[in-house]
Amino acid sequence: MPSLDDFAAGKLADLERQSLRRSLVPTTRTDSIWVEREGRRLLSFSCNDYLGLTQHPELKAAAVEAIERHGVGAGASRLVTGDHPLYADLEVRIARMKGTAAACVFGSGYLANTGVAQALLGRDDLILIDELAHSSLWTGARLSRAQVHAFRHNDTAHVETLLGEHRSDYKYTLIITESVFSMDGDRAPLDELGTLANRSSAWLMADDAHDLDMTTPRPNVPLRIGTMSKALGGYGGFLAASQPVIDLMRNRARTMIYSTGLPPSVLASTLAALDLIEREPNLTAAPLAKARAFTRLTNLPEAQSAIVPVVVGEAQAALDASRLLEDEGFLVVAIRPPTVPEGTARLRLTFSAAHPDAEVERLARVVREKILKH
Ligand SMILES: Cc1ncc(COP(=O)(O)O)c(C=O)c1O
Repeated sequence: MPSLDDFAAGKLADLERQSLRRSLVPTTRTDSIWVEREGRRLLSFSCNDYLGLTQHPELKAAAVEAIERHGVGAGASRLVTGDHPLYADLEVRIARMKGTAAACVFGSGYLANTGVAQALLGRDDLILIDELAHSSLWTGARLSRAQVHAFRHNDTAHVETLLGEHRSDYKYTLIITESVFSMDGDRAPLDELGTLANRSSAWLMADDAHDLDMTTPRPNVPLRIGTMSKALGGYGGFLAASQPVIDLMRNRARTMIYSTGLPPSVLASTLAALDLIEREPNLTAAPLAKARAFTRLTNLPEAQSAIVPVVVGEAQAALDASRLLEDEGFLVVAIRPPTVPEGTARLRLTFSAAHPDAEVERLARVVREKILKH
């Protein structure tokens, strides 16, 4: 038997051989798009800070004021003494934004995704999940103990087939997808999935983590996951849904119930973010416009969201491409399996409202000439 340390070292050596070993790189974000890492100043196209709100003075001021008034931590889980009154304000605002009756804030998007399915389903139930759904959605599906079947990415015909084959064997059925896919930037066919779900008495859950179209109501999607950690610039996750579903979460979602409440400052800065977005509704359109300028200049398929993948194939090729961009002053982190399927390692670019157009154009030129080579 190898020792625990030999076991871990062996696993790491395997990853190294496949160019799949990962390591943390300390990174200081000096504003919403510029970062410092390993002694270099780089323009980041890898942050999910789509609206530049992580560094916004109004959000900072709201957080600082909340820290001064309420301290740095919640002190307990929400059902004990951690339910600061700012939670209720925030949940009302989130529900209003999403067009649902209610919302429940979780400690993170990951915790929301791992908590919701388990609160709703059990062994007698069925989950159909898009094969490219985020790791947290997969974890949530598995934790629920329901029977889980993956459907081919965005393939509604496959969903229909699976419903036909399996729906009648199970009591409740949940269909899980992302409205904007985090590694591909494409959008799910939510209308078609909603129709299929309704026709089969199934429920549709969509993770809107990367969807900047935050205010469009979607009556066909009764379960809407979101995060406060990306466009909203802070931290935390949520489910927006009907009042009974939200009340059930407060009783059954273990990842909410058994985890300490968020620091009040995080709730306050998210409220400030929502104020800002309400005041400046055009802000949320800017990242898509930048992404579209990039895809136009590189002849890539037109961006559907603020995320643009440049798939290069092998893990080492993605690392090399990332290094090449770093030499040009850009930070674009390589995304490798298991985050994306084998053979589809890529650069994943995220566009922010704060990116200067000239830099988007320079990046496009470098990607076109040195990575896509046309
Ligand atoms: C699609 C998707 N869902 C959920 C999460 C997790 O959200 P959070 O970072 O708030 O935990 C992420 C990102 O990390 C994501 O990309």
